[in-house]
Formats: sequence, structure tokens, C-alpha cells
Amino acid sequence: MADVTASGLLADIADVGRDRTRGGYSRHVFDTAELDLREWFAGEARRRGLDLEQDRNGNLWAWWGGPGPDAVVTGSHLDSVPGGGAFDGPLGVVSALSAVDIMRERGVTPAKPLAVVVFGEEEGGRFGVPCLGSRLSTGSLPAEKALRLRDPDGVTFADAARRSGLDPERIGADPELVGRIGRFVELHVEQGRGLVDLGGPVAVGSTVIAHGRWRLTFAGQGNHAGATPMDDRRDPMLPAAETVAAVRRIAASAPATRATVGRLAPNPGGTNVIASTVDVWLDARGPDVPSVVRDVEAAARAAAEAEGCTVELREESWSDEVVFDPALRDELSAELGDVPALPTGAGHDAAVLSAHVPAAMLYVRNPTGVSHAPEEFAEASDVDAGAEALATVLARLSR
Ligand code: GLV
Ligand code: MN
Ligand code: MN
Ligand code: MN
Repeated sequence: MADVTASGLLADIADVGRDRTRGGYSRHVFDTAELDLREWFAGEARRRGLDLEQDRNGNLWAWWGGPGPDAVVTGSHLDSVPGGGAFDGPLGVVSALSAVDIMRERGVTPAKPLAVVVFGEEEGGRFGVPCLGSRLSTGSLPAEKALRLRDPDGVTFADAARRSGLDPERIGADPELVGRIGRFVELHVEQGRGLVDLGGPVAVGSTVIAHGRWRLTFAGQGNHAGATPMDDRRDPMLPAAETVAAVRRIAASAPATRATVGRLAPNPGGTNVIASTVDVWLDARGPDVPSVVRDVEAAARAAAEAEGCTVELREESWSDEVVFDPALRDELSAELGDVPALPTGAGHDAAVLSAHVPAAMLYVRNPTGVSHAPEEFAEASDVDAGAEALATVLARLSR
């Protein structure tokens, strides 16, 4: 049996996927770093005598006891956003492995099957749709749509999956697999300051904000930066820039809304070139998102027309607000001694699964309150407290 703590396991993988250019980590589904971590995970599963399987959508499952039914499942993801932190994703995976060790040290043998899962492409950092692995398995994203998704190099998900040994024909809803899950618990680094303010190491999740992603494509006339007079331009960068400012303005006046443009791509992207098109990605979250997006679209259209450009808006993903299973949440809180319940503005595989099985989350304190950036952090003592807490709830749920 492996004899390492969750913080020790995290230290073992601290160098995988470091992004020397952006800082932090960049690990995207089926890239070298993510595949290295999958291999590392397989080794850790083997070391613990767990049975490893890759499902038809590329998610990894390490089973303690034969697969399902009524299994207790825990885990998270190993991919990151571009230039992300060390904890978002991997913390839930190392804590799950460590929880298996802790349960064994405590002499706990689960009466129900228990699995540690690694979901693919949780961040949507490569193909644009977050929680791709869990959405595919649960059928909330149709396979035909997923297979056509393209990464920034133009590689389709179908091709990337094929190159990683998956059969594109079999990608899609997997009711037999999802039907094995009795309850799901994901441990995650907190992505805000809730636990810092409350002064505790661990919380349970209460709700996940409604959220979605859109792409706006502005089109104008590509041209020469020096030879084109200022009054004879149709430059799509203008409406793109005005839309970025409009997003901030519109979101600021809508209640409980968070809207972000974190990615913008002029094509072809040359210093001395007026762009012919510009893609702008919008991430919008909160109860009023439909009206916020309508207002953003109207502002984008007005700005595009004023510059003689066009704009097209496409939805890339949508997730309704999630309230985690209250009974399961109460069970976790009771077992852990009345830990606080926290809402989150971040999306998670647990939220996708919650439409199908009772799901819950545990958060571990992040002293910086920063996430999706290199400053994301958790103290080793809190990481290990999180794994202990996870072991405690898994022991109870698998009785
Ligand atoms: C994923 O972490 C997200 O909420 O964007
Ligand atoms: Mn994330
Ligand atoms: Mn995450
Ligand atoms: Mn997430």
C-alpha cells in the first residue's frame, strides 16, 4: 500500500505540465502533460491494487471492489486552464487516492464498491466545452456535437480521442456506467475566500452558479496597417474592444452576475495587419445571464454596424444553477462536525453529475482566494485535513 499523504502525492506531480511561458500549469486533455498525469494515476491505482478502466469517453476509473452498482465515487480532473494553479483538479484526485490509504489505515473495508475517477477536459481549456468527460458520459452533451469540437490548432475532438486510443464511434452517453454511481463526492480547492473568512480548513458545497460560454465572431476587412487611411477601415478590433467594455458595464448593473472576456483572438494577428476577423469569448454566470447575454449581443451588434463590420454569436456551453443534494450535504456536515456550507461561482463535474445522482463537494481552504492563476494555493496541513475529511465521509457513505 502506498504510504504517502495527499500533500506528498501533490508534491510528486508538482513538475508535470508547468508552463514556463505563462507561469503556472497548462495541462489540456490528451496533451503530453495530461497523458503523463494519467499514467501517473494508473501507477498509483496499481500500487493500491485498484482495478483501472478507461471509459468510452476517456475518463479513468480506479475501482476498489468490483464496479457498481450503488458505488461511492470520488475524484476530479487532471487538466487545467492555461497558466492555472497546481490545485484545481489534481487536489481532488490526490485526496481521493490518499483517502483510500487513510481508510485502509483505519481498518475500513467498504461494503459498497468505491471508485476514484479522473474526468477528462473539465476546464474546456482545449475544446471549449467544460466538463466534457462528465457531460458526455451523462448524455448532457450529444456525441455528434462533441466529436466536431476543434482545439485552437484545428484538431477535432474525434481525432484527438482516436489518437489517444478511444473509438470515436463509441463516444457518448454511458448510462450503464453512470448507473453504477450511487453517490458522488468531489473534493476541490476553494476558488474564493469563504474559508479564509470563516477560519476553517474544510467546507461542503451548497450551490453552483448558472454559467455559460459564448463566442462572438466579428468580421471586417483585413488590410494594410500603413496603407489604409483611418476613415477607410472596417476593423473588427474596434467592436471587439467596445464589446469587452460593454460586458463589464452590463454585468456590473445586473444582480449577482459575473461576466468575463478572458480570451480574444484577432485573425490573422499581425502588428501591421488590420484583422479580418476577431473572436471574443464570453464567460457569463449568474441568475440573469440570459438577459445579460442579450444585452451584450445588442451592444456588439451596434458596435459592429458602426464600424461596417458583422458579428455572429454562438453559445458554446450552458449549465443551469445546481443545488447539491441536501440530504447528502447534511450527511457530510454531520459526519464532519458541522463544517460550513459554501456556494461557488465555479463549475465542476460534481455539478454535471448532480442531475443524475446525489452529488456533493468538499472545499479546502485557499489562503490566497485566487484560482485559475498560479497564485492558487492550499497549505499542506489543509490538504491533508481535506483528505482525512474525504476519507471520513467515504467510510460513512460506503458502509
Ligand atoms: C471551471 O473551473 C470553471 O468554473 O470555469
Ligand atoms: Mn477550474
Ligand atoms: Mn476544477
Ligand atoms: Mn471547474
